[in-house]
Amino acid sequence: MAIDAPTLEQTRRQMEKRLDRIIPTAEIRWKAELVYEINRLKKERGAIILGHNYMEPALYHTVADVVGDSLELSRKAAETEADPIIFCGVRFMAETAKILNPSKTVLLPAREAGCSLAASITAADVRGLRERYPGVPVVAYVNTYADVKAEVDMCCTSGNAAQMVRTLESDAIIFIPDEYLTKNVAAETGRTVIEAGSDIPPGESVLISWPGRCEVHEQFTPDDVYRVREQFSDAVVLAHPECRPEVVDAADFAGSTSRMISFVRSSKSRRFVLFTECSMGDNIAAEVRDKEMVGLCSIRCPHMNQITLEDIVRALRQNVTVIEVPEDIRERAKQALDRMIAIG
Ligand code: 13P
Ligand code: SF4
Repeated sequence: MAIDAPTLEQTRRQMEKRLDRIIPTAEIRWKAELVYEINRLKKERGAIILGHNYMEPALYHTVADVVGDSLELSRKAAETEADPIIFCGVRFMAETAKILNPSKTVLLPAREAGCSLAASITAADVRGLRERYPGVPVVAYVNTYADVKAEVDMCCTSGNAAQMVRTLESDAIIFIPDEYLTKNVAAETGRTVIEAGSDIPPGESVLISWPGRCEVHEQFTPDDVYRVREQFSDAVVLAHPECRPEVVDAADFAGSTSRMISFVRSSKSRRFVLFTECSMGDNIAAEVRDKEMVGLCSIRCPHMNQITLEDIVRALRQNVTVIEVPEDIRERAKQALDRMIAIG
């Protein structure tokens, strides 16, 4: 939760208390000025800051009014009365906020914060899939751009993907664009996976996959899990469902970023290894003080990591970068997102 302190000195002290386990005091002293300025500007402008669970700890624990996974932040974006909405995450998330709450100004502090999954598929690709498989419903992971969402029947996040698939009675479902998430959801829902372009085997329940991958999670291997278990035999291993299925199988738990956080909070174990973006481990360590988080920090999301405190100050002062979605695309994309929000 955002720090609410009337003076710079109080901001610094609250930050030291919250972040002492993970950030040196010298760094806090410097960042406190930015945090103080952001919280002042936020009040002055009536803004809300939404922060994805992958934001760096000095941002996540100090200026974000609401933190969460993609599903939770979409819900919050849809219902907030605050204006502007500062979305500390990546572009597709900020677009989702704009689609769901179009009368509000949505600002993405870093202009280039993309996503390898969202970049892996275009609206024309989806139209091609519909031509190849007439009448087959299309479910898109929320990690897609607005024009792609406009072409699909429903969206989902890692937090409700299996539930969304279960709502559909069709034997075949096109599930885009993450091939590993598709495999993990297929395993959970008792379906088999066929690659886009292949014929649908008669009588089988299938998910038709697209070859998109998260550039962070695709790098983890089952071997990494085995090695980590050798080194930290008491550690509980958590993985995001964008990891390959062999990694998910080798882990003790897989779920959306918020589900992983809840798992750690409620677990009796003391040590955890996270196969996901490393900032999240720091965010948990700052909050859950009796647990140890082992992060695999050489693999980072270059997009999520673009958002800095300095960017947020600029966004609030200069009203940048404003996210716009053309109305015809927005209306169609909203229908797919409304179905996602309603479930899970
Ligand atoms: P969550 O919906 O689990 O927060 O995941 C978003 C994401 O981009 C993970 O890489
Ligand atoms: Fe996209 Fe992967 Fe980064 Fe998430 S972690 S925003 S899926 S590139």
